Amino acid sequence: MTDALPDKAAALFRDQFGTAPDGVPFAPGRVNLIGEHVDYNDGLVLPVPIAAGTAVAWKRSSGDETRVRAADLGEEDSFAPDSPHKPEAVDWRSYVRGMAAQWESELPALDLLITGNLPRGSGLSSSASLCIALGRAFAEATGTEIDPTSLAKMAQRTEHEYAGVACGIMDQMAVAAGKPGHAMLLDCRDLSYRHFAIPDDWAVLIVDSGVTRGLVDGEYNARRRQCEAAASPLGVSSLRDVSVGELASADLPEPEASRAQHVVSEIARVKAATKALLASDLPRFGNLLREGHASLRDLFEVSHPAVDELVARLQGLVGEEGGARMTGAGFGGSVVVVLPKSRADGVADALDKDVLRVT
Ligand code: GLA
Repeated sequence: MTDALPDKAAALFRDQFGTAPDGVPFAPGRVNLIGEHVDYNDGLVLPVPIAAGTAVAWKRSSGDETRVRAADLGEEDSFAPDSPHKPEAVDWRSYVRGMAAQWESELPALDLLITGNLPRGSGLSSSASLCIALGRAFAEATGTEIDPTSLAKMAQRTEHEYAGVACGIMDQMAVAAGKPGHAMLLDCRDLSYRHFAIPDDWAVLIVDSGVTRGLVDGEYNARRRQCEAAASPLGVSSLRDVSVGELASADLPEPEASRAQHVVSEIARVKAATKALLASDLPRFGNLLREGHASLRDLFEVSHPAVDELVARLQGLVGEEGGARMTGAGFGGSVVVVLPKSRADGVADALDKDVLRVT
């Protein structure tokens, strides 16, 4: 990719507004290697930014209103820059107005054009990518320096307050602070992170199950509440502070017990996976992905039959040399596969689906 999307955004901007944009920042999507549904439990996650993402072309406007064109949807929005009211229904406008509402300095009226190449609802963080690209456009337009963590927090608040999703902060941090070709070990408690290069002989592939996430925000928010309900009788503020042993001796009701078991074991898997990555131990890494998938399917109950089938198929193709699992919030979406680079073309050719190559 790299400049193709910003170039496309600039051309579309010229068609729409009859002039060249002043800037066209880009933000990537992300794929999470392991550490699912643990970010809102103060856990550890291991995401990687991907080449696909969102570009936002911007220019200061001479008018009073900010005008926005969502080129891929053929839709528009406009609002007074000093009062970007929350739209009644949640859609792409919620993210634009949410980011504008939170911008700390005064925003001038802008013309904005958005285009992206991330499939929506496929677990690759299209909304975080949109928010961070918008934030970068606002930073350029106001001449503001904003650090990635502050930008990520702003994007997370937008999800919470404008889109009604009580998400953690993994996606926004991965998109704002990720490094291509590197897994980012992020501690979601203090937001410290380290980048680890993915070994040269590993390939990371993403395969879309074709099932898009529907109206599942309620399910997502419910999982978060169940985790909080599991932590409270254990006397901790988050499941990050619970050990496997403590959990085994606790007498939690269902579904809280299973949810907590997933979270506690998944955080341990992230630690083990990071060690495996550093040791270039792909069979071990792959095994952790397999265990993670089973836990998300059986204990956290966020998978989908079509995703389980795809994971099993990919696992069959890769064997003990690597691993596959669902990635992102779940309920459909994408599968991530990590395997020896020498086998990536063969596995991709054996599928009747589009395969996105991360490394
Ligand atoms: C979504 C959320 C993240 C995270 C994942 C699951 O992508 O936005 O905060 O909780 O689901 O790991």
